[in-house]
Amino acid sequence: MSYETLSVAPVSPRLGAEVSGVDLARPLGNRQFQELHDALMEHQVLFFRDQATLDLDSHKALGRKFGALHIHPASAAPEGHPEVMPIHADAGSTWIAGERWHSDVSCDAEPPMGSILHLHTVPPVGGDTLFASMYAAYDALSIRMKAYLDGLTATHEGEHVYRGRYRHQGIDDTGRTYPKAVHPVVVRHRVTGRKLLFVNATFTTRINELPREESDAVLAFLYQHAARPDFQVRFRWQPHSVAFWDNRCVQHLALWDYYPQVRSGFRVTVKGERPVA
Ligand code: SIN
Repeated sequence: MSYETLSVAPVSPRLGAEVSGVDLARPLGNRQFQELHDALMEHQVLFFRDQATLDLDSHKALGRKFGALHIHPASAAPEGHPEVMPIHADAGSTWIAGERWHSDVSCDAEPPMGSILHLHTVPPVGGDTLFASMYAAYDALSIRMKAYLDGLTATHEGEHVYRGRYRHQGIDDTGRTYPKAVHPVVVRHRVTGRKLLFVNATFTTRINELPREESDAVLAFLYQHAARPDFQVRFRWQPHSVAFWDNRCVQHLALWDYYPQVRSGFRVTVKGERPVA
């Protein structure tokens, strides 16, 4: 695909492209929005550098170009910005967001379409994010495994992930119910029409049509398969880099190899639709 208003440089054959020529803090024109959308569909995750002027309002405005904004079911938000999720780790942290492979909030009945993460502070080295293409993971399955998975559904749950997680942010979640949803194991992307694998090690708890032991074994295989390095790209952050991923076809994992350094920023998440087989 060729682009007129952006420069789009792929960083791996499977997924990921670095985009330049756009100031994300400024309102996108129709043409530039269309090209960003096309680039996201083509490359699944886009990386941007030097977006220091992206404040919370312009970050949200950027997200809204792509759809209504999602509010996280568990995390606290900055005052006046319920649609913004802080991503922060420092010497006092006991965990970080996204340390295991996942697609964001796949426990929602309508999981987010995409997430836009802006980090203003990053460690001198470390703190990379890994992204993996679930198109590539599906395509590489054997014909027999594809047939076996066809028509199966999986349960995705938030309870074991979120319960008590944000207590340090002052959140008392007593009495709160976290999302739980059933999605097809193999999903067809609503825009590209491509098939992809839609189970992840963080939220997926079982394949519904299988006995528990068989479900555990199949999920263990699928998680291992989906984490193959040749389906991945690894992003090295700089201060004020932005990553925008299509949450419908990409999983990601945040590395915590920089303790006790600080890594900090904000995520805006765009609502999605029910995944379909
Ligand atoms: C997340 O959204 O899961 C966090 C990703 C990151 O911090 O790199």
